Amino acid sequence: MKEKEIVLSGIRATGNLHLGNYYGALSKFVRMQNDGIYDPMFFIADLHALTTNPDPNDLHANVRNIVTEYLAAGLDPEKSTIFVQSDVPEVSELYLLLNMHVGIGELMRTASFKDKARKALGIKSGSEADDDEIEHQIVGAETNKRVNAGLLTYPTLMAVDILIQKAHKVPVGKDQEQHLELTRRFARRFNSFYGVDFFPEPANFDFGGKPVKVPGLDGSGKMGKSEGNCIYLIDEEKVLRKKVMRAVTDEGPKVPNSPVSPTVENLFTLMELTSAPEVVQQFRDAYADCSIRYGDLKKQLAEDILKVTLPIRERILELRNDDEYIGRVLRRGAEAARERASQTLREAREIMGIRKFY
Ligand code: TRP
Repeated sequence: MKEKEIVLSGIRATGNLHLGNYYGALSKFVRMQNDGIYDPMFFIADLHALTTNPDPNDLHANVRNIVTEYLAAGLDPEKSTIFVQSDVPEVSELYLLLNMHVGIGELMRTASFKDKARKALGIKSGSEADDDEIEHQIVGAETNKRVNAGLLTYPTLMAVDILIQKAHKVPVGKDQEQHLELTRRFARRFNSFYGVDFFPEPANFDFGGKPVKVPGLDGSGKMGKSEGNCIYLIDEEKVLRKKVMRAVTDEGPKVPNSPVSPTVENLFTLMELTSAPEVVQQFRDAYADCSIRYGDLKKQLAEDILKVTLPIRERILELRNDDEYIGRVLRRGAEAARERASQTLREAREIMGIRKFY
């Protein structure tokens, strides 16, 4: 039988999962898993989380939360390899090896690095002098702020997650596309430097259709942890309703067929993700003829979001304290992930000339 292609993706362990993670990633993972066409691997990127120096207890709790949420949302250890990144120590070793072929310059030019460096240094974004300023401050001694080297090499680590499993397909959002591009570049570079056909170049993977962008509740662009505009899978019913009812809107349409403002369009977008098409249409029509009441729209929206999140929440609560089960899932996942990883690492060492004398 031909081996199935590996689909692999990870989520950084930095907090509870929200609707953006769910529609952007998790629900797709579940679909991929259930399609049965691929060999799916999903992991929690705890080493990547270390780049922002979390409190150790928080980090551990976050890993547990995310595993639980993965499972509650439908990832099935019988069908997918579910594991924690740091349980595969081979990743750390290949990360060291691959870094020998990664340029500091290309890492510094990565958008996510500039973004994180800017945050770490407290530089506001948008100014012309931005890049120079960041560089200046990173090497400069006149600041006590620090951009750690782990942040710089974040893309190497991510590339290794992918390459060590020789994954072909990597479902990630738009914000990770540059990292994937770097992964392909590192793979090509390694292959050509050593004259081997070793690492496959991974492709982004989606089910086609337009990419989902899940907006936040504050009228701004994207739902995101740092934005504080999230609906979490673990949110209690009351909390969730309150959040939705407080979502930002506008004064409402004054004349028929007015264009929809971005803030209200966000609510429609959320509705399109969670409500039946007829329901969305009904509110769109009401908007067009100015009879819409945002309060009704929000009530409906909260109702439909709850239909998605409440069953997941219940399973989270059931699983959360089942250490025995979580441990079993992760041990099994780690074993499977290590099996592939150790094979790749062994071969990579050999290719690079790290060979044993005994
Ligand atoms: N960088 C990804 C994110 O922040 C998480 C991640 C780490 C990842 N390693 C990966 C995603 C490998 C896909 C494949 O979302």
